[in-house]
Amino acid sequence: MIYSKIIGTGSYLPAKVLSNHDLEKIVDTSHDWIVTRSGIVERHFAADGELTSDLALQASRKAIEAAGIKADEIDLIIVATTSPDMAFPSTACILQDKLGIRNGGAAFDMQAVCGGFVYALNTADLYIRGGQARTVLVVGAEVLSRMLDWNDRTTCVLFGDGAGAVILRASDTPGIVATKLHADGIHRNMLKADPKVSMDGKAVFKFAVHVLSEVVEEVLDQQKLSGTDIDWLVPHQANIRIIEATAKKLGLGMDNVVVTVANHGNTSAASIPLALDTAVRDGRIKAGQNILLEAVGGGFTWGAILIKW
Ligand code: UT7
Repeated sequence: MIYSKIIGTGSYLPAKVLSNHDLEKIVDTSHDWIVTRSGIVERHFAADGELTSDLALQASRKAIEAAGIKADEIDLIIVATTSPDMAFPSTACILQDKLGIRNGGAAFDMQAVCGGFVYALNTADLYIRGGQARTVLVVGAEVLSRMLDWNDRTTCVLFGDGAGAVILRASDTPGIVATKLHADGIHRNMLKADPKVSMDGKAVFKFAVHVLSEVVEEVLDQQKLSGTDIDWLVPHQANIRIIEATAKKLGLGMDNVVVTVANHGNTSAASIPLALDTAVRDGRIKAGQNILLEAVGGGFTWGAILIKW
């Protein structure tokens, strides 16, 4: 049986950091409001001219180095992004070129907003298990700062830029063991960018807590596991209160949850691989552990993935 296993992770945050106090000078908000309602303290913003593919490139180089492979071994690149460099070509093709890969492997983008990374990881897993790819670079990368409406304090304080990447490789021992994805376009106006980000925050909050608790149970059921079998929950980082509610429903203490929202803000498709890389590099995530990823985002899309690390 072929499985796919994550053999390396990497991430990148742009150098420019904006604190809540910096935002107080731009919009009518306060550090206390932002921290209390969302858990966010600071976020990173890309520099002028710094593109999604540039962030993706930095994160990918680190994942390739951690995996101990050559870039040319990558036969598929999937970039989850809702803020591509341009309408076309895809950010994945631009990234392939920037990485110097000339092996004729496939490359494409995946657009499922904050659900993008779990959608992309599931797609990569299916390519590997179907025998169509052996070594896949999966990236979540976003420059959301250019899509924010600075006249809307209810959204502009919540988002940040960044990128995270993983190398997924065919393996004869378990890696990704269960996945469930969902979408329901009837909720498409609850959170959208047309062209600037707008959101019905309260409605999104309620919806997120509801569907995340359902989808994590669905993947745990596939493996006959319960919440307490999870070593690390690595959730999409949108709001600390949504993360706490999901952990509580799983019966997990916050000691088993990787939280980066305070320093990253909501980086959409980049948030899970950024959090994953943080916990791999600081030694929290170790071989043999059960890792649960979950995300919900515009569309609406949502999903969860269970990994035997
Ligand atoms: O990644 C995709 C998923 N996205 C999310 O998960 C986001 C989900 N939603 C949320 O995280 C929360 O709903 C928010 C953080 C967006 C908002 O928190 P809330 O507790 O739902 O606050 P609210 O929208 O009910 O606003 C409460 C008050 C309002 O004032 P009134 O009407 O009570 O007088 C807002 O006008 O806070 C006001 N407010 C602000 N005040 C200071 C809204 N934004 C701000 C702000 N600074 N930035």
